Amino acid sequence: MAVRFLVILPLIVLTVLLSIGSGQSEDRSELGKVLHAMPPNGPFWKYGNVVMRRKSKKAGMAPVVFSHWNHRAKYTCRVCHLELEFGMRSGDTGITRAQYLAGKYCGVCHDGKTAFSVLDKDPSKCVKCHMKDTNALEERFEKFAEKLPQSSFGNGIDWANSLNNGLITPVNSIRAERLTIQFPDKLKEPLKLGTTSPRSDVTFSHEEHFAELDCSSCHPDTFKIKREGTESFSMRNNLYGNYCGSCHMRVAFPMNDCKRCHPKMSGSSGY
Ligand code: HEC
Ligand code: HEC
Ligand code: HEC
Ligand code: HEC
Ligand code: HEC
Ligand code: HEC
Repeated sequence: MAVRFLVILPLIVLTVLLSIGSGQSEDRSELGKVLHAMPPNGPFWKYGNVVMRRKSKKAGMAPVVFSHWNHRAKYTCRVCHLELEFGMRSGDTGITRAQYLAGKYCGVCHDGKTAFSVLDKDPSKCVKCHMKDTNALEERFEKFAEKLPQSSFGNGIDWANSLNNGLITPVNSIRAERLTIQFPDKLKEPLKLGTTSPRSDVTFSHEEHFAELDCSSCHPDTFKIKREGTESFSMRNNLYGNYCGSCHMRVAFPMNDCKRCHPKMSGSSGY
């Protein structure tokens, strides 16, 4: 089986440059700037992995590799980032061994019932999280990804399609008592974002995001609750991992996939 690896980025850059050749020089230079700042997509299996090494290293343990791709198939983002209070920036949570042994963070699920236990003292089991090498993880990814619809960037998996077609069925809560608010009817209409720059129109669906996230994942810290209320909200700042890029450069499909946010930029995506 072919290793799912991204080799087509230069081709895409070329396609975009050609497709905007007919535009004015201004939009060409804006797009050029965006493309210039765009980091290349790495190997699919690595996208969304968080490597935690600070505390492990001090204690002489191999780093912990947490992968979003296997967890997000089972749990929506809100389970971990709201219910279980994991931070949405790598390193923010500051997880310690004492905490997970006491049943917090990873220890909530890694209890021997839902998933392999953190309480297992057998040193050969520590490597399940403290990975000396990641070959086995990469192999499991290949098997996992085979069953899901493909995309060109990020994990090479079309997560939105997988979710909408029931190919993955992540749970929304692991604590029955948690209240989920009703999605407000008023937000059903997609928001029109984007600038006056040609083909920069963006359609943002609150509903699609609410399927996995809560209002507080974005408001008020990342976005103002008012259309066009968010300052310095440019493509460039997105690319540096702010705004949409806080998820769409790290876990959700990355910014390389222009057409999924800018439907009018035809020819600019790898599809
Ligand atoms: C099983 C738990 C779990 C689920 C489900 C989960 N995450 Fe995470 N996420 C984590 C952990 C753990 C971290 C690392 C936190 C830390 O280092 O302090 C993290 C980190 C992140 C980061 C920062 C990554 C970085 O490199 O800085 C983003 C962004 C993120 N998650 C978004 C999401 C999104 C979007 C979803 C849903 C599609 C999601 N997460 C689902 C546990 C989870
Ligand atoms: C479910 C995953 C998981 C398993 C299994 C696991 N750990 Fe950890 N461990 C972590 C995470 C996450 C951290 C925090 C990583 C960091 O920041 O470097 C950590 C950190 C540590 C630290 C750093 C000190 C501290 O206070 O945090 C030590 C020591 C440690 N683990 C030992 C072990 C040993 C020994 C085993 C096996 C008996 C084990 N771990 C199994 C996830 C796990
Ligand atoms: C909301 C529940 C939940 C939380 C929180 C959670 N996990 Fe998991 N994790 C699972 C489940 C379920 C599996 C798959 C079952 C199994 O392998 O036993 C899994 C599997 C894994 C695997 C094996 C993945 C593979 O395919 O090799 C690793 C490594 C792992 N988790 C690490 C972590 C670390 C580190 C944390 C904390 C930072 C964490 N998990 C937090 C539920 C969770
Ligand atoms: C994934 C991120 C995200 C999530 C989750 C999210 N929003 Fe928003 N919301 C935005 C963005 C982006 C804007 C536009 C901000 C701008 O243009 O500056 C916005 C704008 C709004 C507006 C103004 C709409 C208008 O037409 O003026 C309201 C009201 C709003 N959000 C409410 C909510 C509520 C309620 C929830 C939870 C049900 C929610 N949002 C969840 C990203 C999000
Ligand atoms: C808090 C995290 C987060 C933020 C912030 C966020 N998104 Fe998303 N978005 C997701 C997740 C998770 C998905 C599901 C698909 C995936 O993971 O690739 C998604 C899906 C989408 C889709 C649907 C793709 C499809 O094929 O159906 C679009 C379009 C989109 N986001 C645009 C945006 C835009 C534009 C912004 C900024 C205004 C934004 N998102 C901000 C997490 C986020
Ligand atoms: C996750 C969604 C998303 C993806 C993917 C994305 N963009 Fe954007 N882009 C936006 C948003 C949102 C804005 C509008 C920001 C605002 O309202 O000011 C924007 C604005 C722009 C603009 C207008 C000028 C500017 O800097 O704001 C250009 C040009 C642009 N994008 C090019 C691209 C190109 C080229 C790609 C692919 C390489 C791309 N975008 C991928 C969300 C996205």
